[in-house]
Parts: sequence; structure tokens; C-alpha cells
Amino acid sequence: MNDQKLRSQNWFGRKGKDGFIYRAWMKNQGIPSHEFDGRPVIGICNTWSELTPCNSHFRELAESVKHGVYEAGGFPVEFPVMSLGETLIKPTAMLYRNLVSMDVEESIRANPVDGVVLLCGCDKTTPSLLMGACSVDIPTIVVSGGPMLTGKFRGKDIGTSDLWRFDDAVRSGVMDQDQLVMAEASMCRSHGHCAVMGTASTMAAMVESLGLSLPHNAAVPAADARRKVLAHLSGMQAVERVKRDIRLSHILTRKSFENAIIVNAAIGGSTNFVIHLLAIAGRIGVELSLQDFDTLSRNIPLVANLQPSGKYFMEDLYYAGGIPAVMNELEKFLHNDCITVNGKTLSENYL
Ligand code: FES
Repeated sequence: MNDQKLRSQNWFGRKGKDGFIYRAWMKNQGIPSHEFDGRPVIGICNTWSELTPCNSHFRELAESVKHGVYEAGGFPVEFPVMSLGETLIKPTAMLYRNLVSMDVEESIRANPVDGVVLLCGCDKTTPSLLMGACSVDIPTIVVSGGPMLTGKFRGKDIGTSDLWRFDDAVRSGVMDQDQLVMAEASMCRSHGHCAVMGTASTMAAMVESLGLSLPHNAAVPAADARRKVLAHLSGMQAVERVKRDIRLSHILTRKSFENAIIVNAAIGGSTNFVIHLLAIAGRIGVELSLQDFDTLSRNIPLVANLQPSGKYFMEDLYYAGGIPAVMNELEKFLHNDCITVNGKTLSENYL
């Protein structure tokens, strides 16, 4: 157990006018005095935005995290950072990834938080939040928003990749404009990010294989009640990680990065994985090169048949056992002794 004074006590634990100022204005939110008694303060870094539809359920998700933090004896404080939605933001969300990472880094560093829960969803929200958190290196856990339910249209499963097929169908006269509008609602029929193994799902699988989230983080659908359970349990774990002072740099080792590369090869993850993983490794100070991706991926079998390169959707992956099932298949390739955010090793999580 970490018996050092928590960093939040440099604000809330002060005597005299400084302590008065730090606590008094917080109390205008109805917070009782005992919340400032030295218990872990857990920041909930929220990328909720109605302009980031993939993350539009994050207010609810944050409430579940708070329930968990309170249950474990912590004090949750939610704060916003810039949110990057792939579908609306121009010219491209990638232009702002590093800007958001600075927003996250400074928001954490400048405020009285001992640990942080990162609420990540649409593509760039995961690497940007993780990069920022790595630069501060306090206890951190990731909760992803989860994929949408599989789309259903005219008796078929549909997802993001069908958008191009629909466009072709309209241009060739097979489909009319009214049917196209109907297909829009059929594809995006629940909260969550794209239901295929695109960048968002790849990033969610990345954090799970790095050991930065609880098991099943990547595939539980956003609309499934178990997504809220995962958020609640993650809030509890965030408090535990602070009590034990388990920081990002304790979990993000060269071995855990190798695990992420191996899992990504097995699930047919997005090529954007390479760009973002290299940036995260740079922030935490782990040596990683392009050559590593080639060397580590070469002999890894593709074990998941997921769109856009394959047939199935993220919801199907969850019912088939999710990333833990994938890791089970990869046991002989992985570093199974890597520690994860729930205090267990990788293999203890998936076996
Ligand atoms: Fe947000 Fe695809 S547009 S994950």
C-alpha cells in the first residue's frame, strides 16, 4: 500500500487560506467536507460531445465510473477535454490528436487528481488521451465506450463499410434516396463507435492488450448493460491503483507493447494502430520501431474474422469471448506475465 501523501492533498490538505480557497469553491457543488480528508481523488477525463456521436453516451458512462469510485472510497471529479469525432470534424481529426494530448496532459498535471479514468471512444480519442496521460504518469485506467450494435437492414447485418456499397447502389439505380435514409438509421441504431474492427475498435483492443483496461473492454457493446458494469468496476480499480501507486509506466513496458502488436496482428486491426502505438511508446519512453511491427507480427495467425477485412462485427466478437478469447489462442506468443490494471497478470485475466 502506498503510504505517501497523495498529490491531491497539496491542494485539499492545506491549512490556512490556500486550503480554504481550494476546498471552498469545490463546496459550491454540494461536496461535503469529508471528501477532502485524504481519500484518492479520481479524475474522469471525459470526451463526451454531441459532435462526437460515438462518445455521446459518455455522461452516463461517467456516472457509472463515479459509482465505482465512491464504492471503493474515492472522490470522483469529472472534467472535459476536447473531443475528436471522425465524422464531422474538418479537415481531419488527426490534425488535432496532439493538441488534445496536450489538453489532457495539462488538465491532469494542473489539477488535484491522484489517478485518472480516461473515457475513450471514437478513433483519435484513445491515443490522444493516452498520450497525454503518459506524459504525466499517474495511475490511469481506460474505459472505452464500446461498439454500436450490429446494424440491420433488409435482413442483413450492416456496418460502416456498407456505406460505400449503398453509395454505389444509389448511383447505379438499385437503391433510391428514401432507402438510403432508412439505411442510415439502420446502421447506427445504438450508442457506440463503429461496429467493425476499424480504428476505434483497434484502439480499444490495444488498451486491453496493453493491460490498461479491464478484460472485455474492447468488445462489450455500448448498449449492453455490462458496459456500465465495466465502467463501475474500472472506477473501483482506479482507487485501488492509486492506493498501490501503480502508474502507467509500471504497466507500459516493452513487453506489453509487444503484446499489443501481437494481438493487433491476430485481430486484423487498423493500420492506424502503428502510428498511434509509436506515439504512445514515445510518450512513456519505450523503444519501439517500425521494424518491430514486422518482426513481431510475421508469424501471428489471424484468428478473428472481422469487418472491414472479414465477415463479422464487434458484437459477434464479444459473444465469441472478446479479446480474452483471442489472447487465449495466442498464449504461446504473448508475454503472459505482464501486469495489468486490475493487478492481475495478462494470463490470469484471460485463462
Ligand atoms: Fe467514430 Fe467510426 S466514426 S469510430
